[in-house]
Amino acid sequence: MKKVFITRIIPEPGLNYLRQKGFKIELYSEDRTIPRKQLLAGIKDADAVISLLTDKFDREAIDKMNNCQIIANHAVGFNNIDIDYAKEKKIIVTNTPEVLTESTADLTMALVLSCARRLTEAEKFLRGGKFEGWKPMLLLGIELKDKVFGIVGAGRIGFETAKRAKAFGCRIIYFDNEKKANFEKEFSARRVSLNSLMLSSDIVSVHLPLNKKTHHLINRDKLKLMKKSSIIINTARGEIIDEKALISVLEKKQIFAAGLDVFEKEPNVNKKLLKLENVVLLPHIGSATIEARNRMSLLAAKNVAAVLSGNKPLTPVYN
Ligand code: GLV
Repeated sequence: MKKVFITRIIPEPGLNYLRQKGFKIELYSEDRTIPRKQLLAGIKDADAVISLLTDKFDREAIDKMNNCQIIANHAVGFNNIDIDYAKEKKIIVTNTPEVLTESTADLTMALVLSCARRLTEAEKFLRGGKFEGWKPMLLLGIELKDKVFGIVGAGRIGFETAKRAKAFGCRIIYFDNEKKANFEKEFSARRVSLNSLMLSSDIVSVHLPLNKKTHHLINRDKLKLMKKSSIIINTARGEIIDEKALISVLEKKQIFAAGLDVFEKEPNVNKKLLKLENVVLLPHIGSATIEARNRMSLLAAKNVAAVLSGNKPLTPVYN
């Protein structure tokens, strides 16, 4: 019986699927990130692994895998895995694209609205007993209509976010390494340089994968280009923005606000961020809907079952 090691409890659909297909599931069942020692022990003789973005599959981990045919990451991002080394070792790596696109775009818009309308600040104000009645100048925010919405990375999530932003009356521009004809047609969007996007956007929203090229892509110089009235949103990976530089522009009120679902050193959040009023901070919940997580679990399981049955994976990250 082939063994599938799963590094943490995932939603039922994937587990059911694997059971029905007759695989033996070994699960790290405590509700916390698996400690490294247990991870290395668990993957040793597994035929397949379902991993989370919080599990690091570096050379050391991959070298421990004696039988593993596939690492099925239960996430669309796969920066937690040394892909080049997995490839060298002929281990297939899959992710979970498509199934979380809408949920992540929804959360992006939730952050945009929270920042623009100062929702967390407003709620804190009310819960703090400060609400004395309607006031003409109370907690004024920013209207989205006619604002320039800059999408950094016009992939699937960038596309769905643009769709939502357009519905709010925003004008879309984008930065991407490639020209995206479909994106341009759908949103009458212009492709611009990153500098130009940072300069002219009222809202900047990051939708890139994290890799060597995108690490700190949005650095101090880029952040300094932003308008005083602008907002930056990150639902991708924390390391794409230089967090220290972002804190500095927020402290100096050089931009209006930031909405962050991801951080450079998760799960640690820089204490300076916690002190700021002009940020909305979420604990990496972009894909955290029942629907998306069920689909992610099932897709990861289907990738495992396909590979262990001698078939092609559904969503490989390399060919
Ligand atoms: C979440 O961040 C994911 O990559 O799926």
